[in-house]
Amino acid sequence: MKTELVFTPSAAVSSELLAVFAVDNNTSKEKDAKPELTLLISEEAVKKAAAFVLSTGEFKAEANETLLLHSPEGLKAARLLVIGLGKAGKATPHDLRKAAGTAVRFAKPRGIRSLAIAAPATSFDAKLALRAITEGAIVADFDSDTYRTDRKDRSIQSLTILAPESFDKTGAENGHREGAIIAESQNFARTLINEPGNRMTPTILGSKAAEMAKEVGIQCEVYGADKLHELKMGAFWSVSQGSEEPPALIVMTYEPEGAPAGPVIGLVGKGITFDTGGISIKPADGMEKMKYDMAGGAAMIGAMRAIAQLKPKVKVISIVCAAENMPSGKAQKPGDIQIAMSGKSIEIINTDAEGRLVLADGLHYARQLGATHLIDAATLTGAVAVALGQINAGVFANNEEAFQHFSKALEISGEKFWRLPVEDEYRDQIRSSIADIQNTGLTRYGGAITAAMFLKEFVEDTPWLHLDIAGMAWLDSDKSWIARGPSGIAVRSIVEWVRSYAE
Ligand code: BES
Ligand code: ZN
Ligand code: ZN
Repeated sequence: MKTELVFTPSAAVSSELLAVFAVDNNTSKEKDAKPELTLLISEEAVKKAAAFVLSTGEFKAEANETLLLHSPEGLKAARLLVIGLGKAGKATPHDLRKAAGTAVRFAKPRGIRSLAIAAPATSFDAKLALRAITEGAIVADFDSDTYRTDRKDRSIQSLTILAPESFDKTGAENGHREGAIIAESQNFARTLINEPGNRMTPTILGSKAAEMAKEVGIQCEVYGADKLHELKMGAFWSVSQGSEEPPALIVMTYEPEGAPAGPVIGLVGKGITFDTGGISIKPADGMEKMKYDMAGGAAMIGAMRAIAQLKPKVKVISIVCAAENMPSGKAQKPGDIQIAMSGKSIEIINTDAEGRLVLADGLHYARQLGATHLIDAATLTGAVAVALGQINAGVFANNEEAFQHFSKALEISGEKFWRLPVEDEYRDQIRSSIADIQNTGLTRYGGAITAAMFLKEFVEDTPWLHLDIAGMAWLDSDKSWIARGPSGIAVRSIVEWVRSYAE
């Protein structure tokens, strides 16, 4: 999708579809209160074209509600689409992001290939508004039906965002530029996640990362099994040993000129390209979904793509631990003891708790490479989805300052993460009678926390955030603003978190 930002009056724009936003000014809480609608656009011609239908009361401007008019009088556009933003004064840039996405997903199945969206003239800061609209539109253009032979490419070819004359031009331009970089990087991650296990092996994931790195001008090394042995990554290797597919240790580095010596940010991603569970094999029902067990790794690759283009003045190292978790004559078994790169011994209780094993070595290696602040992202536990459902992803932090930076990042990204504890009282869960720790909890309770406690063993005192995105990385149904399939969650928040250390 090509996007452009113009400062042209909307009535004069000839387009297949012109989308404008509306709010309800009626603050009454009564159920049947008649909406008092306002179009968030200053031009009389547009207001006039929509006046009659808005006066009927059919359209209430509820969030993401749509109303379509053909051949609107006095406008050059072939169609006028009004999109609700809810009650006046309540709408945030995050609502605007979704509403812009709704416009795009409204247009796609109707054969519309180019559209214009009019940024709301009031209520929003120019940069935030442009960023939200651009992100929402690009994210909404993604669909996951890649391999259908009857697939019709319904992508939007061009989007024109119309900004009012009153907007701060530099702010709007920056918002548009940043939004496009970030949303395209989120979609890049989604494309990787969408690929099935036979088409996204650890080796392929490594080459996709290397290709991306070359394009955006950052360093990327992809290592195989030999490097894992050389580094004594016993935990990472134990997961990959059962597969015919070699593991890939992907190391990306972004080091801009003039970046200070510290902090150095370390991004670590779980890249299990397929998780059968290994010898502790998963039930067949729903196992096909385990192709998205590399979503944390893909989020890091996507984030590095955005970081390379946004150019914050901070050094960033990213490590993706890619492997396939398979049962075989060579696979690790429950009861096996593995020695992690840090020297810690691990008793394997369940070979399906493999994500924490690869991350243990990834986190340790990131520290060895000089990371002073760590973040990991992983589809780590089913338990996080039991705890938080499919609305919030989980975030764990061993450091308040790092968490504060993340909270601020969430305000910008609009992604939803809920903090869960990592406290020493939970450590009993991973005590082993034969080794330093075991890879699952003594009980089933608090499974997402147990996994976080396991990772904590490998970060020691380094400020660290752990994102458990298992419940949020795959959307089971379409929403008006985003397609079902890989969500690309965490890319936007990770990028903002990294940028917050460059300020
Ligand atoms: N990849 C899974 C977690 C997962 C579950 C991701 C559902 C996405 C959706 C992970 O490797 C796993 O199998 N975890 C186990 C841990 C258990 C054995 C302690 C789980 O959650 O059941
Ligand atoms: Zn597993
Ligand atoms: Zn897994």
